[in-house]
Amino acid sequence: MSPTGTQSPRYSRILGTGSFLPADRVTNQDLAQRLAADGIETSDEWIVERTGIRARHFAVPEQASSDLALPASQAALEAAGIAAEELDLIIVATSTPDMVFPSTACLLQKKLGVHGCAAFDVQAVCSGFVYALSVADAMIKSGAANKALVVGAEVFSRILDFKDRTTCVLFGDGAGAVVLGASAEPGILATELHADARHTDILCTPGTVAGGQVVGSPFLKMDGQAVFKLAVGVLEKVARSVLEKAGKTDADIDWLIPHQANIRIMQGTAKKLKMDLNKLIVTVDEHGNTSAASVPLALDAAVRSGRVQRGDLVMLEGVGGGFTWGAALLNY
Ligand code: ACO
Repeated sequence: MSPTGTQSPRYSRILGTGSFLPADRVTNQDLAQRLAADGIETSDEWIVERTGIRARHFAVPEQASSDLALPASQAALEAAGIAAEELDLIIVATSTPDMVFPSTACLLQKKLGVHGCAAFDVQAVCSGFVYALSVADAMIKSGAANKALVVGAEVFSRILDFKDRTTCVLFGDGAGAVVLGASAEPGILATELHADARHTDILCTPGTVAGGQVVGSPFLKMDGQAVFKLAVGVLEKVARSVLEKAGKTDADIDWLIPHQANIRIMQGTAKKLKMDLNKLIVTVDEHGNTSAASVPLALDAAVRSGRVQRGDLVMLEGVGGGFTWGAALLNY
């Protein structure tokens, strides 16, 4: 409370970031060789020209999303200078959970060696991290939580059809995490989330488990051109909307960190926002598309390399299956 008795504003702010990539780094050449063994043709040139991807990391069969989430979370906690016991909320964004239930967030809580705090998963595919961050921000602002761990963790290699060259070259595995804390100073300034389920079919993994069997297809399917067209339009629109909510303009953005799916979508978005391309954080070249993990992985890379500094205005953007999209504008 302020001296006048009015409630002082309460914000959420990123206290620390972390990330983790599994050890197996697979270059385009490596992948082309592996696919050639099954008679599938692709090349480094095709993948780089159409997507900007040069390599991705794949988890080993024993590594589940929570195993990638754990070291990413530990790094974020260390950077934030807080102990796991201080967390009162864990949210994991994933479309490749360890199991049907318990949630990956509960399994992560166990691996962190703590208990009692709220823990749940958010499923919004490649928009998952922005969705999870927005939920955590709202819970902190409302007073429902004080310190939150927000993670994006994926093992997309498990749902790739390695006989479909139009999708299997695009994705990778990894995890990124942030610790959010309540603050009197504004951190997250504005967020906005959207979904349009008229487009469920353009990007989906339409299988489930029933009666001990996989029913439907357990593999990712995508109409790449339809996704491409939708993505560029919604990413510009939602960015402009959160800028307006926060009373900022595109000229104020220090760093743009969009979902790392395809360099052409990312550069197209930056150009529409009239941004210099050197303010665009790019990790898709080294990570591929890691779905919900891509934004926090890119944020952590940008923080640890010294590009994103305290006080910088950062635009995070997600877009993916559902069709879902969203943005978060924050003072780092
Ligand atoms: N290697 C070599 N050739 C290929 C490959 C490959 N891996 N994949 C497709 N081709 C061929 C096709 O068969 C086709 O050949 P044809 O002309 O003889 O029929 C040709 O390349 C062109 O195929 P298109 O599908 O038209 O290629 P396009 O230029 O659209 O690029 C791509 C495909 C990269 C998928 C593009 O559409 C794209 O980036 N879309 C957005 C996808 C995306 O970002 N998805 C993720 C967002 S949401 C999320 O993250 C879940």
